[in-house]
Amino acid sequence: MNILIIGSGGREHAIADKIASSPLCELLFIAPGNAGTATLGKNIAIDTNDFEAIKSLVVNENINLVVVGPEVPLVAGIVDFFSEDDTLKNIPIIGPSKQGAMLEGSKAFAKEFMQRHQIPTAAYKSFEKNQITEALTYLDSHSMPVVLKADGLAAGKGVLICNTIEESKSEIMEMLSGKFGDASATVVIEEFLTGIEFSVFVLTDGKNYILLPEAKDYKRIGEGDTGLNTGGMGAVSPVPFVDESLWNKVTTQIIEPTIKGITDENINYTGFIFFGLINVNGDPYVIEYNCRLGDPETEVILPRINSDFVEILLAAWNGHLSDFQLKVDSRSAATIMLVSGGYPGDYEKGKIIKNLDHVDGSRIYHAGTSIFNGSAITAGGRVLAVTSLASNMQRAIDKSLINADRIEFEGKYFRRDIGFDL
Ligand code: AMP
Ligand code: GLY
Repeated sequence: MNILIIGSGGREHAIADKIASSPLCELLFIAPGNAGTATLGKNIAIDTNDFEAIKSLVVNENINLVVVGPEVPLVAGIVDFFSEDDTLKNIPIIGPSKQGAMLEGSKAFAKEFMQRHQIPTAAYKSFEKNQITEALTYLDSHSMPVVLKADGLAAGKGVLICNTIEESKSEIMEMLSGKFGDASATVVIEEFLTGIEFSVFVLTDGKNYILLPEAKDYKRIGEGDTGLNTGGMGAVSPVPFVDESLWNKVTTQIIEPTIKGITDENINYTGFIFFGLINVNGDPYVIEYNCRLGDPETEVILPRINSDFVEILLAAWNGHLSDFQLKVDSRSAATIMLVSGGYPGDYEKGKIIKNLDHVDGSRIYHAGTSIFNGSAITAGGRVLAVTSLASNMQRAIDKSLINADRIEFEGKYFRRDIGFDL
């Protein structure tokens, strides 16, 4: 088959790596891709939101399967664009419809969905831009800290945790007045939950699902989980504290009611669901849904999957997931993100990446890279993910650290403490 992956990060490189190793894959295309995906298939420089250009590519290259990596084209309706087009409608595409993608694209929609289906999540109330006075009054009687969430996609920046009423009031005024543009025209005010976060992933056809390995990511830039939020500085899988009792609760209280809700509401959903969860004294709560795989979580989940990934995706498209037995590697995986100096603030691009050929015992997934004069150069804040598999988590982390030290580019920074809290 000819397969197209949409996206350009470490997640898409990890997906490309799995797909390229499948005997079912003939030609692989990645749009737009990066320097890493270019070693596995053909990069095509198109914007992930240019659906007409994607259509031309699919038609011209006889694409038989499309995998959508990031949330933005999903929330913008790429799957509906396919299903409403006579030429494209029978081509398998992995990702939810626009309505399904609202689980990530609108926090208010997701909260209402969870409420309708009795799925545990923080107590909340949502306010629109003409309800600033009501929102301020609500905050007056709210316990602190409190969580303010822009309703729409805000590239991971739309969630604020406020410790005082004054701070929360000034933030809500800014948010409802357009701090995040249209994304904060509605804001969810939410109870702050205390616990440890972890992420669970399923692939679903809207009725059945298969469970993928769980993961934990490290979002803050600084060691000890300090400093600004990033897209993710590292991840591990499996997560040691997710024991059988917690798994049972996650399955019966969260995953199954979510899938049943999707089925009952007739939401067209063939794709991944990423459950961002928090363990509060042994009880799981949903912090957020995402309508895609995580980054860098994918860089530790996919290396642990031994089944043919293309077969899994086709089983989802064909509604055969309930027959599928996923083979999972029992080893631990750890990934460490190498980022550009200054990230998540301003940083420079175009730095030559050296010593990729000195890496031994880890896999390198490119995130923000491109090719210049035949060499890989930095092209983003998160540059490379260094993933290792080993008999236990600490050994996997140690292997990644050794190789993280070997790779060089000007301004390179990474966290040495991934997994510190486990
Ligand atoms: P989100 O974009 O919804 O994942 O939120 C970003 C981060 O904010 C999460 O990963 C959590 O660390 C934190 N967060 C979000 N909601 C809550 C909550 N209700 N209680 C505590 N922390 C939260
Ligand atoms: N690592 C978090 C995310 O992909 O949203």
